[in-house]
Amino acid sequence: MNDDGLTIWLTGLSGAGKSTIATLLASRLIERGAAVEILDGDEVRTNLSAGLGFSKEDRDTNIRRIGYVANLLTRNGVHVIVAAISPYRAVREEVREKIGRFLEVYVECPIDVLADRDVKGLYRKALAGQLDHFTGVSDPYEAPQRPDVRVNSSAETVEESVAKVLIAIDDLGQPDLATGTDG
Ligand SMILES: Nc1ncnc2c1ncn2[C@@H]1O[C@H](COP(=O)(O)OP(=O)(O)O)[C@@H](O)[C@H]1O
Ligand SMILES: [Mg+2]
Repeated sequence: MNDDGLTIWLTGLSGAGKSTIATLLASRLIERGAAVEILDGDEVRTNLSAGLGFSKEDRDTNIRRIGYVANLLTRNGVHVIVAAISPYRAVREEVREKIGRFLEVYVECPIDVLADRDVKGLYRKALAGQLDHFTGVSDPYEAPQRPDVRVNSSAETVEESVAKVLIAIDDLGQPDLATGTDG
């Protein structure tokens, strides 16, 4: 593994598996000797973004703040794993352009599976019309159109999803192989 930093940005609905995948991915990268930090949406909202709500403006501010920190770390050689819903495409593109070394990972899962899982009991409330601004039910989610990696937690194990991300990371680290050297 080379010494360049990288931001691996996991986007997807609540309960899709972002935090779970981030944790296992971090372990795998640490085993390979990388410096790793996780910026998890839930945790960020209790400190870096404390006080922000769930309007489009506040959500975009939250993502810009995460992107700002991810950029500082990435340019100092850290592998940054972001696990945040990040529902709006434009601001995802904005942070991608700022950071440069960036992989967008779409953590997909059908809404009926999420409602069954209901890790935090929020889908039941949202689907009953009792929760405003709940992404995917009562608030927008703009799915990536061309993510670098697409994983599906209803069809893959966590291990399988992490393996896909690791392959994409390895491809990034080997530009000669990716582009070919003899035309
Ligand atoms: N293949 C999978 N990948 C990730 N999570 C999975 C998978 N299969 C089942 N799960 C479960 O789905 C839930 C995902 O929750 P979490 O990782 O907190 O989601 P998010 O961070 O996206 O809100 C966990 O309870 C996890 O054990
Ligand atoms: Mg999470």
